[in-house]
Amino acid sequence: MQGTRAMRMTETTPIVHADVQAMARACADRIEHLARQAQEAGHDFHLALSGGSTPAALYRELAAPERRGHVDWDRVQVFFGDERAVPPDHADSNFRMARETLLDQVPLPAANIHPIQARPDRIEADAAAYEALLRRTLPTGPDGLPRFDLVLLGTGPDGHTASLFPGTPALEERQRLVVPVWVERLESWRISLSYPVLDAARHIMVLVAGSGKVDIVRALFVTHADERRYPIQRIQPSGCVEWHLDRAAARGLEPA
Ligand code: 6PG
Repeated sequence: MQGTRAMRMTETTPIVHADVQAMARACADRIEHLARQAQEAGHDFHLALSGGSTPAALYRELAAPERRGHVDWDRVQVFFGDERAVPPDHADSNFRMARETLLDQVPLPAANIHPIQARPDRIEADAAAYEALLRRTLPTGPDGLPRFDLVLLGTGPDGHTASLFPGTPALEERQRLVVPVWVERLESWRISLSYPVLDAARHIMVLVAGSGKVDIVRALFVTHADERRYPIQRIQPSGCVEWHLDRAAARGLEPA
C-alpha cells in the first residue's frame, strides 16, 4: 500500500530462552503449530531450513520420539535457505546436517525433501534450477512470488543471513530468487535464497545463540536498530518475524 513503511526485521522484541535446548523446545512447538495451521488451511507446509550449527538442536528436538505424530510429515515440503558448494555428504553441507538431525529421523517422504545442489563448476545453473523448483512447487503470494510458510534463519557475527554476506552483489539482487554467492572471506561459493523470496515468507524465525553473537545482537537491536547496515536487516518482511535468542546471545540486548 502506498505510504506504508515496510516493517523492519528488528521491530519485534526477541524471545529469550534460558539456553539452546529451551530455545529448541519452544521453536519446535511454534513450528508444529505453524505446520498444523497450514495443513488445516488445506495445503502442505512449505518450510525452508537454515544451515550452520545453531538449528541442529531444534532439528533434533523436532525429531524427538515424544514429538512423533505432532506433525503430518506427509504434508511437509522441506527446502533450504542456502547451501555450501560441497557434495551433500560433505561435513560442511547444510543438507547433511539437516539429514542427520531431522530428515532421516522423521517419516518424511523423500519426494518432499528438496536439497540445493551446489557445484562450483555449475553454480549459476544450479541456482537457476533451484529457483525453477521454487517457482514450480511453492504457492505464490499476492505479489506472484513463491511464498514459504516458514523460513528459518540464523545470523553470523557479520550480520549475514542465509548466504547473503556483506559486500556481495547478492545484496542488490531483486529479480532472481536464488543466487550464487562468492564469499571472498571463505574463498568458496554458496547458493542462497535472495531477498525477494525471504521478504515474501509468511513467517520468518531467526535463531541466535551463544556468546559469540552478543556483539551482532547489540548492533541489530541497540546501536544500529534503525538502519539497514547488516544483511539480515535488509529483509523487508511481509509476514511475521520472530527472533529467538538464548540467554548468552541475549546479553547483547543489555547496555554494553
Ligand atoms: C549457513 C547458514 C548461515 C547461518 C549463520 C549462523 O549456511 O552457514 O545458513 O546463514 O545461519 O552463519 O551460523 P551458526 O548457527 O553456525 O552460528
